[in-house]
Amino acid sequence: MPALSAEAVTAGYGRSPIINEISLTAELGTITTIIGPNGAGKSTFVKSLIGILRPMSGKVKVNDVDITKVPGHRIAGHGLVYVPQNDNVFKRLTVRENLEVGGFASRSDPTARMGEVLSIFTDLAKAVDKKAGFLSGGQQNLLAIARALMVDPTVILLDEPTAGLSPAYTDVVWAQIERISNLNTAAVVVEQNVERALGHSDFVHIFVAGRNHVHGTAAEIAALDLPSIFLGRS
Ligand SMILES: Nc1ncnc2c1ncn2[C@@H]1O[C@H](COP(=O)(O)OP(=O)(O)OP(=O)(O)O)[C@@H](O)[C@H]1O
Ligand SMILES: [Mg+2]
Repeated sequence: MPALSAEAVTAGYGRSPIINEISLTAELGTITTIIGPNGAGKSTFVKSLIGILRPMSGKVKVNDVDITKVPGHRIAGHGLVYVPQNDNVFKRLTVRENLEVGGFASRSDPTARMGEVLSIFTDLAKAVDKKAGFLSGGQQNLLAIARALMVDPTVILLDEPTAGLSPAYTDVVWAQIERISNLNTAAVVVEQNVERALGHSDFVHIFVAGRNHVHGTAAEIAALDLPSIFLGRS
């Protein structure tokens, strides 16, 4: 049973769908990456999994539990968490307070969980009393990921977690995503950079024009003619 299972999800913002019958599964302990051209529907798909958008049809399951109709604020309680690209921390709250907010829906003891999370994010452990707004952009992204981890999730969805970061911080964020997946979590990551996606993930899905055009292991996807897939030519 996959940790996450999206089954033929169709969703959009108005009456006409933006994404069509997208299916995708993710297993514990793996990294699944979604790549594809701008406007392909990657973020729309992520939003349709976590209750920001309601699928018009299709199903979303976490550990085989159907969460398609669960309200957004309850979805974390089912073990599915989401890290948005922007505005992902409370800037006026300290690092510790941000983590406490994240632990609100925690399925384990929040204090113990904070210790576990801070043992992974050692830079944040040194800055627990600092206001999040004073952290660098890269550190804020790490805090957003750490906060999502406070619920001890089954699946963590990250929409472009390295957008706008320096190459050095991008490597730090990816190293953390690898550590998280090793802690028996399914990580599903939207990534703009194809080489990085192929280098860090187990499975890759390429979305083109609202469809899950092709998917496979990173090695299988690396062997394809990606430029012509991205341009919609094959
Ligand atoms: N809030 C919205 N209301 C209406 N249409 C939207 C909205 N957000 C996105 N869209 C449209 O949905 C389509 C898919 O957008 P989406 O943001 O899912 O793509 P994406 O693959 O995440 O792109 P990017 O790589 O640029 O982040 C685009 O045509 C976009 O214009
Ligand atoms: Mg997007």
